[in-house]
Amino acid sequence: MLKAVPCRKATLLALLLCSASICCHAALFGDGAANPVAHFYFSIHTNPDSGQEMYAQYCAGCHGSGGQGHGPAAHYCTVSPANLALLAKKNHGVFPANRVSQVLHSGTGKTPQGQGYMPVWEPLLQTMNADKPGTTEIRIANLTEYVRALQERPATPQRGHVTP
Ligand code: HEC
Repeated sequence: MLKAVPCRKATLLALLLCSASICCHAALFGDGAANPVAHFYFSIHTNPDSGQEMYAQYCAGCHGSGGQGHGPAAHYCTVSPANLALLAKKNHGVFPANRVSQVLHSGTGKTPQGQGYMPVWEPLLQTMNADKPGTTEIRIANLTEYVRALQERPATPQRGHVTP
């Protein structure tokens, strides 16, 4: 039996990104015939002050609402979306804020692999929201802070385990 997939904007956006990232780039940046469907989904406006709202709309489709990388569209992606909740743990307990904001600005630095690769967000955010100068910076800062808040907490020491 088919499971009903919740038809949320974030899912649709992520599906679109996953299945048609190249064609969306063409639609956005005018290097091909504009795709009105892509334009519709890429016109999702969000509040630049709300990391939570932006994350839900733009990131959760691939990375999952908790950041573990299991969003509803993750299985369409050739490279698995990164587990964003482990970024601090993998960086000796320090959240790599500069790295995250750099990735959002200019991409992972790796060659994109297949469908659903991590987009370069700065131009997307700017175009989707018709941001005024400076606003995209605020978006990236608030998204970075939201990803910081998703970090796994270190395990709390076990209580009641007394060693002689
Ligand atoms: C279309 C699916 C998709 C969407 C949507 C997406 N990502 Fe990603 N993201 C990926 C994939 C795939 C990777 C892994 C790239 C790699 O390993 O080469 C990744 C990697 C990353 C990384 C790098 C992690 C590391 O280990 O350095 C960060 C940070 C990140 N994403 C944040 C975000 C944020 C924030 C958003 C929303 C603004 C977002 N992503 C939206 C697919 C996506």
